[in-house]
Amino acid sequence: MTEKILVLPGDGIGPEVTRQACRVLEVAAARAGLGLELDMGAIGGASIDAHGEPLTDAVVAQARASRAVLLGAVGGPKWDAMPVTTRPEKGLLRIRKELGLFANLRPATVFPALAGASTLRPEVVDGIDLLVVRELTGGIYFGEPRGRALVDGRREARNTMVYDEVEIDRITRVAFDAARRRKRHLTHVHKANVLEVSQLWMEVVDEVAKDYDDVELVHQLVDSCAMLLVRDPARFDVLVTGNLFGDILSDEAAMITGSLGMLPSASLGEGGVGLYEPVHGSAPDIAGQDLANPLAAILSVAMMLEHTFERADVANDVRGAVTAALEAGHRTGDLVLDGEERETLGCRAMGDVVLAEFERSA
Ligand code: IPM
Ligand code: MG
Repeated sequence: MTEKILVLPGDGIGPEVTRQACRVLEVAAARAGLGLELDMGAIGGASIDAHGEPLTDAVVAQARASRAVLLGAVGGPKWDAMPVTTRPEKGLLRIRKELGLFANLRPATVFPALAGASTLRPEVVDGIDLLVVRELTGGIYFGEPRGRALVDGRREARNTMVYDEVEIDRITRVAFDAARRRKRHLTHVHKANVLEVSQLWMEVVDEVAKDYDDVELVHQLVDSCAMLLVRDPARFDVLVTGNLFGDILSDEAAMITGSLGMLPSASLGEGGVGLYEPVHGSAPDIAGQDLANPLAAILSVAMMLEHTFERADVANDVRGAVTAALEAGHRTGDLVLDGEERETLGCRAMGDVVLAEFERSA
């Protein structure tokens, strides 16, 4: 049986990192005995340039007909002046929404070889292994009303943060289930001292918690959570939160591990199609120069193998190959600290090294 994978490289460094990720996907699929067909599609600025919109209905249909989507990154200065309704990012938001991908899993772990790359002290970084479970299809990203108006001659803009109990319940269950497979600790991140929306989250999370009395639950205000993430990140296991807080905290969680270039993500929902993408953005400043770090994209392939194809064994082989590449001292530029003397690899060469390590683990 052939499984269709839709690859949406997007903009900036998206194409170069997904190219390396696809090479790894092909050999990993072969090891797993999966027959894959990789189709390419446009999203973001690439789609705006080709089709006049950040995501076409045809690509949405193609995604729906696929088992999984591998995405690079979207956005760049070329399209920065566009209104939010037509920008490249809208393509990403639309595909998440169209595929019903409400659960975004963003694991942040420290590869021991990279502990020195974090701006935090090694003893603080030691043992970080957390998972941000971010609600992805609701909240202020999608709430209505939204938009701009001229009121009494003044420019005004508004967005609406809205969640209903069903949306909160289902993401909370995803987070509790994940915690059960880990250290059985869940932190719910909120701003219930100010926001009614967060008060509803508190209520619903507490209700769901009754079904998970084997998991320890802590409610944490988002501002203090941001502080604790840099003070004592190892205390966290799973964090669950809404779309906006999750966006912010997942970048913070990524960075304490050393580089945004290392973090993969999986977006899952009811539809059965999973979307896998690196957490990092399109990094237009280094795009097209073979400088990008492909490891987050490659680790996103590992998440695909684990979640869509339920092949945790081969997923771990991919992670093992990444670990081995790092232990052998290979680094892309983003993984080198200022002032550190070290040779760096380009995007493609890092892909080569990971592939070689993968083959070696056969
Ligand atoms: C992310 C990104 C996106 C988001 C942007 C590009 C729309 O920052 O995936 O975290 O805010 O969700
Ligand atoms: Mg983000």
